[in-house]
Amino acid sequence: IVAVISSAVLGYLLGSVPFGVILTKLAGAGDLRSIGSGNIGATNVLRTGRKGLAAATLLGDALKGTLAVVIAWRFGEAGALAAALFAVLGHMFPIWLGFRGGKGVATYLGVLIGAGWPLAVGFALVWIAMAAALRYSSLAALTATLLTPVAFAVMGQWAQAVVFAILTALVWWRHSANIGRLIAGSESKIGSKG
Ligand code: G3P
Repeated sequence: IVAVISSAVLGYLLGSVPFGVILTKLAGAGDLRSIGSGNIGATNVLRTGRKGLAAATLLGDALKGTLAVVIAWRFGEAGALAAALFAVLGHMFPIWLGFRGGKGVATYLGVLIGAGWPLAVGFALVWIAMAAALRYSSLAALTATLLTPVAFAVMGQWAQAVVFAILTALVWWRHSANIGRLIAGSESKIGSKG
């Protein structure tokens, strides 16, 4: 139990580092929370027009999750899954930003790399295919996160299926405004300033 709690704390602390806000500020591109959708993720960094900065945000927000899970694996599967859950929660509710964080997609991908990398490849392919076809970052993420727990269940990995189903529910909940805009047809597309 101590190992699981330590893993959760490690996951939360790593997950709560907001790379988008930090990198945008360091690059002198302003306060990300007053740009575009106001979200702290790579999709919104892209709206500053800085592609390299968006890629670095994606990488940082993903790899902090991977790192948490990889470190927590030494406490076994329960530790790894606790770190996965709390890394995404840390990104969504970072103590450093008054608990107003992001929507969790990059960090979800990052913890998935640590928890079962072949499914992370599948996630990335689904995201890229959806984004290329329809140009909505949010819809691509909603689709990829929906399929991930289903894939774990099909593989008979039930602990992973349950944890990633919880993570998917969190990601969908954080996208409620995006879902409303998708239904209304007013969601901004990738490449637009939205
Ligand atoms: O990962 C977040 C993305 O799915 C939506 O971001 O800024 O368009 O709300 P945004």
